[in-house]
Amino acid sequence: MTKKRAFSTEAIHISKTFGEKGSLNVPIYQNSTFAQKTPGTWEEYTYTRTKNPTEEALRHALARLEGGEYSVAFSSGLAAINALLEYFNAGDHIISGADVYGGTYRLFAEFVRKRGIEIDFVETKELSKIERALKPNTKLIFTETPSNPLLEITDIKAVCKLAQQRGILVAVDNTMATPFFQRPLELGADIVVQSLSKYISGHTNVIGGAVIAKDKELLDRIQFIHKATGANPGPFDTYLTLLGLKTLPLRMERHQQNAFAVAEFLGAHPKVTKVLYPGLKEHPQHALASEQMSGFGGIVSFFIDGGEAEAKKLIEGIDLFTISISFGSVASFISYPAKMSHKDMPAAERISRGFTDSLVRVSVGTEAEEDILEALGNALNKLG
Ligand SMILES: Cc1ncc(COP(=O)(O)O)c(C=O)c1O
Repeated sequence: MTKKRAFSTEAIHISKTFGEKGSLNVPIYQNSTFAQKTPGTWEEYTYTRTKNPTEEALRHALARLEGGEYSVAFSSGLAAINALLEYFNAGDHIISGADVYGGTYRLFAEFVRKRGIEIDFVETKELSKIERALKPNTKLIFTETPSNPLLEITDIKAVCKLAQQRGILVAVDNTMATPFFQRPLELGADIVVQSLSKYISGHTNVIGGAVIAKDKELLDRIQFIHKATGANPGPFDTYLTLLGLKTLPLRMERHQQNAFAVAEFLGAHPKVTKVLYPGLKEHPQHALASEQMSGFGGIVSFFIDGGEAEAKKLIEGIDLFTISISFGSVASFISYPAKMSHKDMPAAERISRGFTDSLVRVSVGTEAEEDILEALGNALNKLG
């Protein structure tokens, strides 16, 4: 392996290793299948569902940037999380963070139980709650940190310590922070999952996912599940993701700079009752976030003075921002998680954790700060 350089250098140059004929970008091997020399002999590449050179370049880049050894790329973030679940067996018990992406919640709540796997949703930001939920058959602790949409922080090192003493695996969904701001594997986690559809690709043109880990045996099994269930990404999507990776550091720095400005602006606005952003000193886990992350990301959630009607009025009345279920784009997005990304989470369940009908989430883009603040200010002032 070549010398490891700074993240922003690696992100740009990592693909070069795979370029041919001096190409600085990884070629798109838009093949479903590859020629074999004779029946029964297996070349390195035979069929794209199993392995494709463009996808392989992405796998290499993601593993290196996350500080892991191996990664498997998927057709979506949820396909990656589903493959991770396939690793476990009927009779196993999984602890999942309670504040997770709504699609992850739906997958866990509806499908995992059907497979005979027990699952409990726990506020993983509180170690004592995880300890209380442990069972003799607990095999995995799955956490999203920062979480979506409450931006809660789970202490990765502490969870790993607790889990490792008991032979339990820890998986972290690192989609919000990206490896630029947080590297869970270096903090002791066994597995990282990523939705590549967000910051990693960054331009709302790709759906993709990945599982990254240090343990070869575990990743070989995930790779086998990927092949057996056909959850591979297409070559063009992996090419676009590789392009996105080159500007990830630049984009994340700008997202964060603008997110700080938005968090401070919202905090001072009379129509906003509370702002959630781990970069703010008032965030209850600011110290922990500062310790385990090198930056705080580009998502800011806040509570509007009022309920669903006011939140909708704000969201529908804003210009510049796109109303979107997603996040992590260069363009600023605004969403109402209760009716969008988290619509399948029972209202009573989310409200009991403080995810009320007043919550609005913004994915702060990389546009000029003054335009973002002006758009937000104009829309908030229209609320009267
Ligand atoms: C934190 C998080 N993880 C995973 C996913 C699922 O990723 P995908 O949409 O690529 O399936 C999402 C999607 O919004 C997400 O927000």
